[in-house]
Amino acid sequence: MTKRTPVGFENYDDVRMLDIRKNFHKKYVKPLVNMDAEIINNVDFNGEKRILDLGCGYGDLLSSIKKRTRGCELLGVDISGEMIINAKKLCKGVKFSVADAQGLPFKKDYFDIVICKHILCHVTDIQKAMNEIRRVLKKDGIVVIVQNTLANKSKMHTERYRQYVAKELGRSYLDTNHRFNIENYTNYITGFRILKEERMFGYFISPDPGPLIDYISSMKDFYVPIPKKEEWNEVINKLKILITREISGKKLFEEVVGTGMVLLQKV
Ligand SMILES: C[S@@+](CC[C@H](N)C(=O)[O-])C[C@H]1O[C@@H](n2cnc3c(N)ncnc32)[C@H](O)[C@@H]1O
Repeated sequence: MTKRTPVGFENYDDVRMLDIRKNFHKKYVKPLVNMDAEIINNVDFNGEKRILDLGCGYGDLLSSIKKRTRGCELLGVDISGEMIINAKKLCKGVKFSVADAQGLPFKKDYFDIVICKHILCHVTDIQKAMNEIRRVLKKDGIVVIVQNTLANKSKMHTERYRQYVAKELGRSYLDTNHRFNIENYTNYITGFRILKEERMFGYFISPDPGPLIDYISSMKDFYVPIPKKEEWNEVINKLKILITREISGKKLFEEVVGTGMVLLQKV
């Protein structure tokens, strides 16, 4: 099984690390911004449709969609073999395979719906992936994009801390927030029309740095080359001191966390 960032930006994400980030949002961001529910409530999964979750991770979204649909054919694809092994365990009755968004192993005009939830910010050639998505979509087919938004100073502090870590390590990192987001996705949508665009915000509020440190720690593999454990721990300890100092001045740490969803139709 191939693992970990050998080329470009592809991030062969780790199941446990992805889980830490997802749980951070579920536990600490209020009100909960539930993008899975948002997708399910805004997209018509009725009828005999063929649906692809591209960059499906460990298959939790497809598992939720499966409970709410009858007659649809569901497929999940991810570049990470580890994700696909876990997805197959979690979600029976759905076809999963390892594939790269930049070269999809499907014929043209094949899917009614393609879901891209927090994947395109990881892909080396975003335009190439969008061209592939358009190719495999039927005419009038729908692509659902979920990504972070930069509006309302969303994740401003998190971003500052990620930059601090990069500087301390002397490394560049996969800047997922800026590479592809709800503000710049329009640069990549030739051949699509926008049906819907929405942004949702929650607040991460904490009296101690623990959850935020865990969240940032889960992104170790986003730094290139990936830091060794000792080096990483040393920088994370410095980050802990910095965040603690900032919180003690304010009593509480507060961060706006924004996510957006876009529905596009192939024209
Ligand atoms: C942040 S995770 C999101 C997973 C899932 N969509 C979710 O929302 O929980 C990004 C996923 O994209 C996958 N990925 C990254 N680059 C990819 C590519 N070029 N083709 C397919 N999947 C890719 C990673 O392996 C990872 O599972």
